[in-house]
Amino acid sequence: MHNEVGKGGEKSALLLGASGLVGNHLLQALLADEDYGKVAVLVRRPLAISHPRLTVVETDFDNLDSASEYFAVDDVFCCLGTTIKKAGSQIAFSKVDLEYPLAAARLAAWQDVRSFHAVSSLGADAKSRIFYSRTKGLMEAGLKQSGIPSVHIYRPSLLLGKRKEHRPGEETAAVVSRRLPFLFSGPFRAYKPIPAETVAKAMLAGAQDPEIGFHTHPSKELFQMAEGLLKGDRILT
Ligand SMILES: NC(=O)c1ccc[n+]([C@@H]2O[C@H](COP(=O)([O-])OP(=O)(O)OC[C@H]3O[C@@H](n4cnc5c(N)ncnc54)[C@H](OP(=O)(O)O)[C@@H]3O)[C@@H](O)[C@H]2O)c1
Repeated sequence: MHNEVGKGGEKSALLLGASGLVGNHLLQALLADEDYGKVAVLVRRPLAISHPRLTVVETDFDNLDSASEYFAVDDVFCCLGTTIKKAGSQIAFSKVDLEYPLAAARLAAWQDVRSFHAVSSLGADAKSRIFYSRTKGLMEAGLKQSGIPSVHIYRPSLLLGKRKEHRPGEETAAVVSRRLPFLFSGPFRAYKPIPAETVAKAMLAGAQDPEIGFHTHPSKELFQMAEGLLKGDRILT
């Protein structure tokens, strides 16, 4: 364990993307989990939250090496992401969704972290013709090569949750899944929109006793993980 003297539990965590929809839920969950004696977050602007077990580090993500000391933890969680519209170009999008996560994994490996947990996406595929899916797939492939003992990839379908910004696709999905839930049954269960909070809970569950190896968790599995019904590839009875 990297954190032997932290108040509360023995474990320590580093979170990237704490100001985002999934990341914020994960931060709340980590702070509520007394097993984590220390939680640090890397952010690009101040975070309006304080907690005795929380360290907020304002970071230049183009120079993540300057924050390398904060990677000396047990578990690293990466919830970074943007949209091409928000980022302004494919290159700027790739920085956030590919370069930064892989830079974080390099530092995490260097600091001998126990496990690395990253949000990817349903449909991630390094060979996809769709730029978004390809970028996510390339991120997954990079993480697979990172040398970190336990890597967990979470592949949510469309996220549900309250945002300050307007995202029409997510808003439509929220209405459809509320009014026509049968659309996401049977073979289409895999596409069921998923609350960001459920993804965060699944990530925390994945870190509870992270199995060695490279694990990808499809969206429908995240519902089970979040409820504690699934550990690794095993259904718990
Ligand atoms: N939206 C969906 O339906 C959906 C579906 C499947 C998978 N995903 C994936 O799930 C992940 C989490 O999504 P989310 O909706 O929770 O994301 P989000 O709310 O947009 O939050 C993204 C996080 O990344 C940070 N970030 C963005 N650009 C950055 C930059 N240039 N430098 C440093 N930090 C930056 C944001 O920080 P700031 O607050 O400073 O901007 C924020 O903390 C993403 O990887 C996304 O691609 C999303």
